[in-house]
Amino acid sequence: MAASCVPIFIVLLFLSSFCKSDDDTLTQAKPLFSSDKLVSKGGDFALGFFSPTSSNTSLYLGVWYNTIPARTVVWVANRDSPIAASSSATLAITNSSDLVLSDAQGLASWATKTNIVAGGAGTAAVLLDTGNFVLRSPNGTYIWQSFDHPTDTLIPSMKFVASYGAQVVGRLIAWKSSDDPSSGDFSCGLDPTSPALQMLIRNGSKLYYRGVWNGATVSGGTYSSNDDSIVYQVNVGQGGEVSLTLNVSDGSPLTRIVLEHTGKLTSLSWINQSWVVIGSRPDAACGIYSSCGPFGYCDFTKAVPVCQCLDGFQPNGLDVSSGCRRTETLTCSKQSHFVALPGMKVPDKSLHIPNRSFDDCTAECNSDCSCTAYAYRSLSSVIARVSLPRCLVWKGELIDTGKYNGNTSFTAGTYPNLGENLYLRLADTNGRKKKTLLKIILPIISFLLILTFITLMKMFKYRGNRQNKGILKRQILGHFSSSSEITDKIIEFPFISFEDVVAATNNFSDSNQIGMGGFGKVYKGMLDGGKEVAIKRLSEGSRQGIEEFKNEIVLFSKLQHRNLVRLLGCCIHGDERLLIYEYLRNKSLDAFIFDATRQHVLDWPTRFKIIKGVARGLLYLHQDSRLTIIHRDLKASNILLDTEMNPKISDFGMATIFGENQQQGNTARVAGTYGYMSPEYMMEGSFSVKSDTYSFGVLLLEIVSGLKISSAQLTMNYPSLTNFVSIVNEHNFDRLDKHRNLMNYFCTGMEIMGRWKSMRVGRL
Ligand SMILES: *[C@@H]1O[C@H](CO)[C@@H](O)[C@H](O)[C@H]1NC(C)=O
Ligand SMILES: *[C@@H]1O[C@H](CO)[C@@H](O)[C@H](O)[C@H]1NC(C)=O
Ligand SMILES: *[C@@H]1O[C@H](CO)[C@@H](O)[C@H](O)[C@H]1NC(C)=O
Ligand SMILES: *[C@@H]1O[C@H](CO)[C@@H](O)[C@H](O)[C@H]1NC(C)=O
Ligand SMILES: *[C@@H]1O[C@H](CO)[C@@H](O)[C@H](O)[C@H]1NC(C)=O
Ligand SMILES: *[C@@H]1O[C@H](CO)[C@@H](O)[C@H](O)[C@H]1NC(C)=O
Ligand SMILES: *[C@@H]1O[C@H](CO)[C@@H](O)[C@H](O)[C@H]1NC(C)=O
Ligand SMILES: *[C@@H]1O[C@H](CO)[C@@H](O)[C@H](O)[C@H]1NC(C)=O
Repeated sequence: MAASCVPIFIVLLFLSSFCKSDDDTLTQAKPLFSSDKLVSKGGDFALGFFSPTSSNTSLYLGVWYNTIPARTVVWVANRDSPIAASSSATLAITNSSDLVLSDAQGLASWATKTNIVAGGAGTAAVLLDTGNFVLRSPNGTYIWQSFDHPTDTLIPSMKFVASYGAQVVGRLIAWKSSDDPSSGDFSCGLDPTSPALQMLIRNGSKLYYRGVWNGATVSGGTYSSNDDSIVYQVNVGQGGEVSLTLNVSDGSPLTRIVLEHTGKLTSLSWINQSWVVIGSRPDAACGIYSSCGPFGYCDFTKAVPVCQCLDGFQPNGLDVSSGCRRTETLTCSKQSHFVALPGMKVPDKSLHIPNRSFDDCTAECNSDCSCTAYAYRSLSSVIARVSLPRCLVWKGELIDTGKYNGNTSFTAGTYPNLGENLYLRLADTNGRKKKTLLKIILPIISFLLILTFITLMKMFKYRGNRQNKGILKRQILGHFSSSSEITDKIIEFPFISFEDVVAATNNFSDSNQIGMGGFGKVYKGMLDGGKEVAIKRLSEGSRQGIEEFKNEIVLFSKLQHRNLVRLLGCCIHGDERLLIYEYLRNKSLDAFIFDATRQHVLDWPTRFKIIKGVARGLLYLHQDSRLTIIHRDLKASNILLDTEMNPKISDFGMATIFGENQQQGNTARVAGTYGYMSPEYMMEGSFSVKSDTYSFGVLLLEIVSGLKISSAQLTMNYPSLTNFVSIVNEHNFDRLDKHRNLMNYFCTGMEIMGRWKSMRVGRL
């Protein structure tokens, strides 16, 4: 018994004396065992095995500071595959120059994947004094480095490549809890779809915090105190590489940035024997993503930051958290002006207008009624390498806005210059005094008018509804008399009187308005009997002229399908042209897929259902209705959703009926939505079943990816749709793992794109 023990003992003794040296290098001949560690040359960092707590003795391979008593792990190799406590661990270099971490049974729990076939014998793994653990080939080049694979911590001299082009490269993922290194729910990375260079912290898929790069810093930014300076530097390199470096001057305390398990991105310095928080984001309750609602902002200038309404806005409810609305409504016809709000954290969902000067940027927003704000910054002064004039505009609601106090103080210094000017569109207040009197009198007059009107209408209706409808019908026939398209169907079509429409929409009151498009406004209304309807009021001079109005009625009178929105009636009164549809509670698809807060409603089965429904509706238009109808403007905002999220195709203003055997149409007036139009339609004006199918393909990619084709076009300048497809593919790489089904959807999309292509080739 004793005799057999001796050789083993000697072997163990030999091994441990051989490896226990405080060396910084590991070679194929000299692996690292459970009880060993590497220490960098200057003694700053150590690499070895650790157990998170005394009760959880699973083994993790990690890097930590060697000079401070509190073990602070900055990198973990096998965070999601610990080695069982009962086993032992070995880190070795393989013949193919890879590092492999394995347990006592030789089962690999973690490995690098360098794909180098030979050269293992000459390869060394070295822990550098920066904390970088590198795999060095015999010729001295680094074939792998831990700095390229951060876990939850950034340390100085580490170049964190956040994105490349439109693709997110690096992400920090928080620990699950303070003593569990496995991947937690919180992650932090760059927002590749935003032109504003935003940093996002997510809680699962939900947005938790957004930091904006204003040119100098990512909010959370540049920190400096008198002696030491710690700079978080964002670099935009060639080819669209965006990286973040933490740069610390010589003699500064140890400093790190960590995405904590609580979701906070915190920078800490080791001062007076403890980690002192230098700054942390979010650092206020109202700093959490969108917590002040639309048109609200988090006021960081207050000792305790609170939500406020932007200038010219007032709270929606009793408190600001449900957002704000305009004190003075803004209409296109009314004069408007811009107020400059200094020191702002600009809102989310901006649109980047490339290559604009400040004046161009102002003009861009001024000329577009739907533009609510803009911001401009020339980034060339900050980043020497690339010149980026950055014109951002916002359409619609402004969310997740903040206000900084010029320089913001922190524990040991200030963050200078965090905010930027936000130019907000407000109704002109010139001549407000004159209006005040009107403001008092007008409501009284209009109240009286409405009262009279309602009374008259009731009498009128009571006396002769039938007669009334007859008049209306004749009016409409008059409108159509020049057209040969009048069919019996049209005459059977239900007409709704203008008085009913006025009553239903509360005289087209703003509070009833639910949408606004190029064609005019859409109102929600309640017809007699409590039926909810959507009423489209075509504005004068809208792109949907009398031709499109007729078009829509003629088409709808022939079409019935559950994936097409139902037209219930129409109305013509003087110059007014109105279309009355069924009301769909969930409004349009774009309000879901492009909205970070509502996206989660669309799980994959729902998205699939929507895709199938749209496909059925389109198939009906193309062939199953016996006619061939080309929609010509299929897009996310034209897909409406009912309460069960069933999709319904809407807006047939541009649809065209093909005659029998007609394959293709041509138009000199190419109208549609940029990004959705197929190349042959856009360039040659030729449309067909194929061009609708192309739009469907784009829509499908949007549903799957949650990316907007038009914004991608604007912001990233993708040269082509196929390029977009490949980027969408990359973008969703992490989602693919979780949702294998997505692959199926994607394949369907690709197949459709392919079919479109082959059809086109066939034509040529
Ligand atoms: C330690 O924690 C990790 C992560 O939660 C877990 O996978 C592992 O089983 C735990 N080990 C022990 C011995 O409790
Ligand atoms: C690695 O290479 C050495 C010598 O070239 C060889 O003896 C050994 O079997 C190889 N190991 C593996 C796992 O292939
Ligand atoms: C160094 O070796 C690696 C692989 O071991 C190789 O990929 C690289 O090209 C070499 N570099 C030089 C400068 O020889
Ligand atoms: C993160 O999300 C989870 C699940 O949605 C929620 O329970 C938790 O409170 C969130 N954490 C924070 C800090 O908001
Ligand atoms: C870090 O800061 C020093 C001086 O503070 C500067 O010389 C150096 O270029 C900076 N490094 C990077 C990568 O920005
Ligand atoms: C560190 O401690 C010393 C004395 O205890 C104190 O004077 C100094 O202000 C402390 N430094 C910081 C940054 O707290
Ligand atoms: C940017 O605009 C200027 C003038 O407006 C023009 O000359 C230049 O070609 C534009 N550059 C690009 C890349 O569009
Ligand atoms: C903000 O900080 C910068 C540099 O630290 C300083 O030059 C400037 O005067 C400060 N501004 C205010 C308003 O305190």
